[in-house]
Amino acid sequence: MKIPNHIAIILDGNGRWAKSKGMPRNYGHVKGCDNLEYICEVAKELGVKYLTVYAFSTENWKRSREEVEGLMRLFRNYLKKCIKISKKNNMRVRIIGDPTAFDQDIQDSIRELEEFSKDFDDLHFQIALNYGSRDEICRAVNRMLKDQAEGRLTGPVTEETISGYLDTGEIPDPDLLIRTSGELRLSNFLLWQLAYTEFYFTPVPWPDFKKDELLKAIGKYNERDRRYGGVKEE
Ligand code: IPE
Ligand code: IPE
Ligand code: MG
Repeated sequence: MKIPNHIAIILDGNGRWAKSKGMPRNYGHVKGCDNLEYICEVAKELGVKYLTVYAFSTENWKRSREEVEGLMRLFRNYLKKCIKISKKNNMRVRIIGDPTAFDQDIQDSIRELEEFSKDFDDLHFQIALNYGSRDEICRAVNRMLKDQAEGRLTGPVTEETISGYLDTGEIPDPDLLIRTSGELRLSNFLLWQLAYTEFYFTPVPWPDFKKDELLKAIGKYNERDRRYGGVKEE
């Protein structure tokens, strides 16, 4: 079985999963975070080179104060814990999205984690935090305008130029996108980068998405016939 080089996951369904157990939504986020730690290990073991997960969108600030506070608490703890996890998994961790909206201590933890893990090379793990694809494109265009005004960028702008200015920079585009918990939409995730990605949707909620489910998704990916606009060789 061919293992995709880059898997992106919209980890959805924590809230509904918790509700189905008569628990508060934030309990679902705690269990979802545990599962993220577990899936990183599985991905590494399977030989996945890049894993990108959508953990908090630019739109998720609309949730209740209690839920947002719970998520911030979770990010705070996880980012600290992730220093050890990155070492254990020989995993480079990067945050995509706009970190400036977070409290200073969270921004400091992000910087520390990225710096600490920058030479680890088995798994490249990207966490999308305060990420929205349209916001990412706006930020990229504004940086391009600034660089052009200051002489660091000259035209013509190519697809590579734009890719390079996105938060994902040099990271290759995803081969497989997974969304858990039954919703069939992108919710503003990696709109540019997913141009030729294969999609896999499953009703399984994120906290229940284990190794067997990941293997099922990879199995389906292996049945796909990727053409990139060309014609299949017979
Ligand atoms: C995904 O689970 C995690 C975040 C968006 C932070 P949800 O919180 O969206 O769970 P549902 O979709 O409401 O069940
Ligand atoms: C997308 O899930 C964002 C994350 C998984 C972080 P949402 O649950 O926020 O998306 P919608 O609101 O159902 O589209
Ligand atoms: Mg959701």
